[in-house]
Amino acid sequence: MSQDNSVVRLEDYIPTPYSIDHVSLTVRLDPLETFVTSTLSIAPREGGSEEAALTLDGDDLVFVSARLNGDVLEDSAYSASDEQFILKNPPQEAFTLELVTKLAPQKNTQLMGLYRSNGAYCTQCEAEGFRRITYFYDRPDVLSVYDVRIEAPVEVKYLLANGNLVDSGTMSTPEGYPEDQLWHYACWQDPFPKPSYLFALVAGDLARVEDRFVTRSGRDITLHIYVEHGKEDRVDHAMDSLKRSMKWDEDVFDREYDLDIFMIVAVSDFNMGAMENKGLNVFNDKYVLAKPETATDTDYALIEGVIAHEYFHNWTGNRITCRDWFQLCLKEGLTVFRDQEFSSDMRSRPVKRISDVQQLRARQFPEDSGPLAHQVRPEVYSEINNFYTSTVYEKGAEVCRMLETLLGKEGFKAGLDLYFDRFDGQAVTIEDFIASFEEACSVDLSQFALWYRQAGTPDLVATYSYDAAREQLSLSIEQSCPPTPGQPTKKVMHIPVRFGLVGRDGSPVGFTSVIDANSGQEIGKSDCTVLEIRERQHKFILTGVSKDAIPSLLRGFSAPVHLRTNLTHDDYLCLMGHDTDPFNRWEAAQFILMDHLVQQTRALQAGANTSSHALDDSILEALKACLMDDSLEHAFRAQLLQLPIESDVGREIGHDVDPDAIHRARESLRHALSTALGDSLIDLYKALDDKDTSFRSDASSAGRRALRNGLLDLALARKEEAISDLAVAHYHNATNMTDRFAALASLTRNEMPAANALLDAFHAEFTNDALVIDKWLSLQASAPQEETLQRVKDLLSHPSFSMNNPNRVRSLIGAFAMNNQVQFNRKDGEGFKLVADIIIELDKSNPQTAARLANNFRSWKALEPDRQGQAKKELLRIANTESLSKDVADIANRCLQ
Ligand code: ARG
Ligand code: ZN
Repeated sequence: MSQDNSVVRLEDYIPTPYSIDHVSLTVRLDPLETFVTSTLSIAPREGGSEEAALTLDGDDLVFVSARLNGDVLEDSAYSASDEQFILKNPPQEAFTLELVTKLAPQKNTQLMGLYRSNGAYCTQCEAEGFRRITYFYDRPDVLSVYDVRIEAPVEVKYLLANGNLVDSGTMSTPEGYPEDQLWHYACWQDPFPKPSYLFALVAGDLARVEDRFVTRSGRDITLHIYVEHGKEDRVDHAMDSLKRSMKWDEDVFDREYDLDIFMIVAVSDFNMGAMENKGLNVFNDKYVLAKPETATDTDYALIEGVIAHEYFHNWTGNRITCRDWFQLCLKEGLTVFRDQEFSSDMRSRPVKRISDVQQLRARQFPEDSGPLAHQVRPEVYSEINNFYTSTVYEKGAEVCRMLETLLGKEGFKAGLDLYFDRFDGQAVTIEDFIASFEEACSVDLSQFALWYRQAGTPDLVATYSYDAAREQLSLSIEQSCPPTPGQPTKKVMHIPVRFGLVGRDGSPVGFTSVIDANSGQEIGKSDCTVLEIRERQHKFILTGVSKDAIPSLLRGFSAPVHLRTNLTHDDYLCLMGHDTDPFNRWEAAQFILMDHLVQQTRALQAGANTSSHALDDSILEALKACLMDDSLEHAFRAQLLQLPIESDVGREIGHDVDPDAIHRARESLRHALSTALGDSLIDLYKALDDKDTSFRSDASSAGRRALRNGLLDLALARKEEAISDLAVAHYHNATNMTDRFAALASLTRNEMPAANALLDAFHAEFTNDALVIDKWLSLQASAPQEETLQRVKDLLSHPSFSMNNPNRVRSLIGAFAMNNQVQFNRKDGEGFKLVADIIIELDKSNPQTAARLANNFRSWKALEPDRQGQAKKELLRIANTESLSKDVADIANRCLQ
């Protein structure tokens, strides 16, 4: 096991004894010998402990020299190592410290700090990458104004940093370089004080696409997107998304852009999705590049969302930042909430909500129910990079959404306005955030704030009954929250449950008042739409309910909880057919299908054969009715067609999980549905054929494609040759990647013999297009068949794969571990072993990405005993690996606890 058990605790927070008000950086770029000269204007903080040493962070740094107020420092006055610079007796008034370090960006395989991607220089500093460039107080509560001068040979065409360009030109060739080599420089100034994690530098021979945006106060902003040469034709959608984001943030949140220029750079080697560096966002190119022939509708939507997310950070993250990394959700949860709202406004709100909830269930719920569960605002960490999680991001966004639900749109806006006003230019905490809403709305949010402090997905059990004589519907909701690491018992939470009543004939049913039966108080009238659950057992009475009705609960998924009710299947069928809340129509279908899958899986595990439980006819009829209902959006109908995913079924079962049984149950349900829906699938598929071949990426065109491709996929579950032929034709006739890849994916996942030849053809056609090859890799890795394991092993040595590129690793190994429940969780342990081998190998060069892969072991404790044993063996092997990174050790050790 790793010996490094050092942890950081929220309760230990203290400000630094010195402030760094100004940073002046000169970076002379060279692949192996980059020199960074950092001149810091430092002053003791008021009330700081007097004569404290100045201790700056470093990571893997080569120290060159130090000067204090211009004079070379005596050796005895400081100490410098690869991880720290200490000035022993700093002056007790303002002073300047000049530090020189030497870097080798070419050798930086961690992709943190300054590194190279396809020949260009770029940086990633969040969370703690700046300390790999120079010594600094590398923490978010030290805000400084930066001046940056970049020097490089003229072949390094663009020299970019944060803020505004203030000077550029040619310079004399530095000593040690050939005299005929021409050099140039550029100077950037960022007037907004910022923490070091928002620093960025990019330099390289890139292509630039230009545009403009005029803000609502009439300021003219230059927009630049930089990509590798030859990719200029894939930037339109990103640029358009950026302009729409800028406009939307003005319209909806009154946030205007503040610098004269906004730049986005797309690089192909990037650990995460993208980074919101002030004025100079750096992106994984996967979230920038799109054209119809290479990107799917899903890619278009993701790009729009990530561009918006990073842009929105300019206010929620950059202008107002985090006091410490425990507050990460302050910027991430809020910014995810904002980007989700943006996408809802750009596309279909219900469809967006359903897909966000699908994501939450697929990624956050498993995290919350396993050994890696943590609070939205954690209180201890050993490696902060391991806390860029779905809990911090997606559950963090849900907490913001619940605030909006509780306070109403106006109250929420008032709270946010106060937050922006009061904390602009500061590094703050969740408490500051919450206090803004409490003050603006005169409410007490102390119980609500438990959402930040208690991990785990709460369980709600709702029971209703109708009293015809009294015309009352009573509803009792009981809450509990399972134990999570370090939190054996939980306090009672404040949970918003949006609701309505649906009559048995499908018509909405009203009520006259809502009574809180716990207190006896009337808490709402006929317009009440949200019940605030604040007690362990909270009972409500709706009066004036003139006819028997079904409560539609948790509309729009108003809280990230697991809900069970005493609604019958017929109740759910009624909601599925008639609820005015589209989310709950979809949810009702999911509930019925999930129930079926759980029962079927249990039966299979108990030794039954596949077709033990037939699917109820009434369910089939209800599904068919929705599918054929032209008043419903195509995209929504496509979502109705998607069965609960295998990992969701596993979590619903909770223990002794056998992924093979789940897979068999799900496949037999698909087959049954496909057979029962029969020709209607293909008829509708054909009716949806759009003869217009010009590609439009808008939500409604994408929805039509999604439904059409979903129908074809379900039809293929019957594995008939005629349908396979139709899918092959679909592939060949496709005029865009969405349709083409959908056909390829359906043929592959349904194990149709035609798939292999098409996979080869697809590879041949897109060999030189890495982002398309990623789709090809992940599709093969997600295929449930037995041979997949060997295929993934073979692909590791395929020329299209590289262990040095995080996108390739995630596409092959990440997809295998995340999307292939059957093969990753193989009973013989070979799936775990393969992923563990990769984690151990990758850890040597890129610990952050290796640790991300290790997250896929998080649900191992819910498996049946044999598989558990295999997973544990591999986790122990990882944990016992010599010189394991802190990143991977942290995940492995927590998984094992
Ligand atoms: N702040 C970035 C975003 O929200 C994520 C950067 C995380 N990077 C890291 N190395 N942990 O999009
Ligand atoms: Zn973010």
